[in-house]
Amino acid sequence: MRIRKDNIVIRSATINDAVQLNKWWNDGKVMEHAGFPRGLGESLEDTIKNIRGWEGKLSQLCVIEIDGKLVGELNYRIKGDNAVYPGWKICDFSYQNQGYGPKIIRMLFEFLFTDEAINSKFPIEKIVLDTMLENKRAQHVYENKIGARKIGIRKDCWKDQNGKLRTVVDYELSKEEFFNAR
Ligand SMILES: CC(C)(COP(=O)(O)OP(=O)(O)OC[C@H]1O[C@@H](n2cnc3c(N)ncnc32)[C@H](O)[C@@H]1OP(=O)(O)O)[C@@H](O)C(=O)NCCC(=O)NCCS
Repeated sequence: MRIRKDNIVIRSATINDAVQLNKWWNDGKVMEHAGFPRGLGESLEDTIKNIRGWEGKLSQLCVIEIDGKLVGELNYRIKGDNAVYPGWKICDFSYQNQGYGPKIIRMLFEFLFTDEAINSKFPIEKIVLDTMLENKRAQHVYENKIGARKIGIRKDCWKDQNGKLRTVVDYELSKEEFFNAR
């Protein structure tokens, strides 16, 4: 996939993105929010395998470009239950807190709710997202800028890389809520 709005491009990752993705995924500062404070410790070969594993599927691993520069990545999973399960990170810290996140997320949601290839097979009715309880910035953005509905909190539901129990906050946004809010 490839979508563009103003200076932002979201496109499917290719093996040409492997070196950058591998650097980010192995960087504990970038991966902390996902529960990997020491990074994934993944070889470049495994990153290439990972990218190849998404090829030809409705679910996609994508990179985010701003002004032609790779600044982050996202993915979305389509499981056939009329929902999409996305996740994203602006990995280049200098592009965080600049208002890009909500633009990227809205661009992605519009695509997911309207793309013919996806919706002719699995009509998407809602988007399901979550974040760590510690990620107050993401919660602020989801609640106040995206209009996602908080569904609940799953306390101590999984152990992170350091064996620390982590709590997850769950959100949903229906197609109707998304389009009515615009
Ligand atoms: C989460 C993320 C998508 C948000 O996008 P962004 O472009 O940085 O967000 P914005 O600049 O639009 O807004 C950030 C908001 O959070 C607020 N904020 C920043 N740090 C905060 C904190 N520690 N607690 C609460 N709010 C915070 C800012 O004040 C701003 O709100 P305001 O515009 O109302 O003042 C992006 O920062 C990101 O990718 N972060 C790293 C990975 C990540 O956390 N991914 C999400 C995992 S679920």
